[in-house]
Amino acid sequence: MADEAEHTDPFAALRTVLGDVEFALERMRARGAEASCSDAALEALRRGLTDFLTIESAAPLETIAPVAPSETTEHVGEVAPVPKSSSDLPKPERSAARMLVEIREDLGDCTRCKLHAERKNIVFGVGNPDAELMFVGEGPGADEDEQGEPFVGRAGQLLTKMIQAMGKQRSDIYIANVVKCRPPGNRAPTPDEVAACGPFLRRQIEAIGPKIICTLGNAATSALLGKNEGITKLRGTFHPFEGGVLVMPTYHPAYLLRSPDHKKDAWNDLQQVMTELGWPIPKRGAP
Ligand code: URA
Repeated sequence: MADEAEHTDPFAALRTVLGDVEFALERMRARGAEASCSDAALEALRRGLTDFLTIESAAPLETIAPVAPSETTEHVGEVAPVPKSSSDLPKPERSAARMLVEIREDLGDCTRCKLHAERKNIVFGVGNPDAELMFVGEGPGADEDEQGEPFVGRAGQLLTKMIQAMGKQRSDIYIANVVKCRPPGNRAPTPDEVAACGPFLRRQIEAIGPKIICTLGNAATSALLGKNEGITKLRGTFHPFEGGVLVMPTYHPAYLLRSPDHKKDAWNDLQQVMTELGWPIPKRGAP
């Protein structure tokens, strides 16, 4: 999505880069590298961006005449007032990748719910931070807990095949779960666990800004849509989520391993997703 914005807005890339620079400086400072990031440095960075954006809104890039050397040291005419403090200045944009790093840092070594007690690894999410499509599952199983990556066990291997049948790789899309720690015995997450972890999934969705979220199974579907009907009723049609994002519920790959007859339904759902995204539908069919 960021790529698309950069094609239509030549300043989007610059804003993102400046946002990332600011983010990196703030992080270095937070880690004690005071000399690398004074308040003055941050304010200069933001002021540079403000001046730049003022020029941008005043005239298109090609009409801005090069500045003669003498004009760089002497201001003539009206000059925008310098904001009194850096908090008056607009915040530069941050790339989705940076926002995901920040969200992971906020999650930290989480103890917000009881799932932390038995986990080996937090399973945050993996894939393309600018993905148009996100898959959301229920929660990590044993293999995911071991490796710290979602959908790497048997169900994950089927999900990978489903993604490949769509003509894509795992690295093209983003995969996350409702809860980031393994529920013992692979039970469904409880409402308090979903409530504790949900805000992090929500922030991941906001950072990535997918066009479509494909929810896998009942738990992910009801966590996002707040509907109690089962997956059999909800799958196969798009449901509106926030910010214009569409949700396509489909069967969980673990269910498809037990009930392969339903693979054709899941493939149907994924074809609808491809059509909505304008992706070509590969000929070879269901995984
Ligand atoms: N099932 C899920 O819901 N998520 C995983 O990551 C693995 C299995």
